[in-house]
Amino acid sequence: MEPVPSASFDISAKTHNPNAGLRGNYSQMAPDYTVRQQMSDYSPAEQARWLRLVERQLALLPGRACHEFIDAVKALDMGRGIPDFTEVNVALKAATNWQLVGVPGLLPDDVFFTHLANRRFPVTVWLREESEFDYIVEPDIFHDFFGHVPMLFTPIYADHLEAYGHGALKAKRLGGLDWLARLYWYTIEFGLIREHGQIKAYGAGVLSSPKELLYALESSVPQRLPFDVMTSMRTKFLIDDVQTTYFVLDSLQQLRDDTAPDFTPYYETLRAESA
Ligand code: PHE
Ligand code: CO
Repeated sequence: MEPVPSASFDISAKTHNPNAGLRGNYSQMAPDYTVRQQMSDYSPAEQARWLRLVERQLALLPGRACHEFIDAVKALDMGRGIPDFTEVNVALKAATNWQLVGVPGLLPDDVFFTHLANRRFPVTVWLREESEFDYIVEPDIFHDFFGHVPMLFTPIYADHLEAYGHGALKAKRLGGLDWLARLYWYTIEFGLIREHGQIKAYGAGVLSSPKELLYALESSVPQRLPFDVMTSMRTKFLIDDVQTTYFVLDSLQQLRDDTAPDFTPYYETLRAESA
């Protein structure tokens, strides 16, 4: 049996929240931190809560989510109930050769990145409590599934995320992970993209939050900068509030192309700046 991660598993490094604890049951997991999703474990109250979360968010998507996300959301038909990963995996394998794996919650960095590098996306199996309906700091199944899974059906995004996994394992060896984590934050979590001259969302943190989806796209307060790898890596982020800066892609191809170079010199530059 694997030890239950506790002090040795520094969640604060991942969430940047010194008070974050580990929620979820880490006692039954496999060595790669995966757990079986037991559909029968979801209560009627959780199924009902899932539907309310999905319905509220679906109503906000038209005109705000990028077309890739909208198309996949339609096909996933999440209003049927909490998704069964086994069933979704059949379609996902055919679309982009990714697979979803159930996990108890946040994972150690290297475990998470190793899953991504192998085209496995970790999805938290539990659903938030009713008191967290509007806001939750930690990822739950609603954030992970509703926010992240739709984009995995788009080949160029799917390839990018695998490359990110390899890049993150490399960044860890080179001491560049804090910077690369910012790039993840400003793309995969809070990324915006221009579509026919209009700004839309493709980041999971934006698309799974009613408040932030409206704020990111419609408020005059935050900055919306053209996406730039180095600028995103120089920009600190907040985990417990809406962002002050968003980065806007011209296309998913731009994300792929701009992250294709070897980042080793980028980390050297950033290290020199912070010295
Ligand atoms: N190309 C980057 C490197 O060599 C890795 C990377 C890929 C980073 C995709 C972000 C996204 O380090
Ligand atoms: Co996320």
